Amino acid sequence: MTTAGNLVFQGGAPRTFWAFRADTGERVWTTDTQANIVGGSATYMIGGEQYVAVVAAGQGGFGGTYWAPNHARLLVYKVGGKAVLPEAEVYTPPSLNPPPEFGDAALLAQGEGNYTSHCASCHGNSGRVSSVFPDLRYAARSGAPMRSRRS
Ligand code: HEC
Repeated sequence: MTTAGNLVFQGGAPRTFWAFRADTGERVWTTDTQANIVGGSATYMIGGEQYVAVVAAGQGGFGGTYWAPNHARLLVYKVGGKAVLPEAEVYTPPSLNPPPEFGDAALLAQGEGNYTSHCASCHGNSGRVSSVFPDLRYAARSGAPMRSRRS
């Protein structure tokens, strides 16, 4: 998003919102948004004050981060604004803890085929997700308690 005041605003990963000078590209402001920016920002004036608003809500599924707190918010900034975000919740991604292998080659091939046909479009090939969907390699197994969900 560009402003008449020679600024360009851009969200970046991880969890950052930037302002640049439009004419030189110099970065003039950086802030930690605690979640990735997923859409464009907007600017508006109220009572002669200019505001910049952006939605921070993104969290990838990589390495078990799907279950991390998302800190999804509409963030609104103005020159001289004093509000600060609450402390981000500390999150330790789960470590991989696969069950023992079982089944013969035919069963494994059937399972792989079923997964590829019905699950991979969202959960990723070979379980390696590259979207916002959960990475099932880190999902709780049947019978094991589910990890607590983000609220
Ligand atoms: C259209 C997309 C899509 C497809 C296809 C899909 N899933 Fe999912 N799956 C999701 C989403 C989104 C969630 C997260 C739902 C939530 O957190 O409420 C999920 C969650 C899950 C979870 C729970 C993970 C956890 O521990 O919280 C399991 C297990 C799962 N899917 C297995 C499968 C299997 C097995 C298949 C294929 C038979 C499949 N899914 C196909 C989108 C999909």
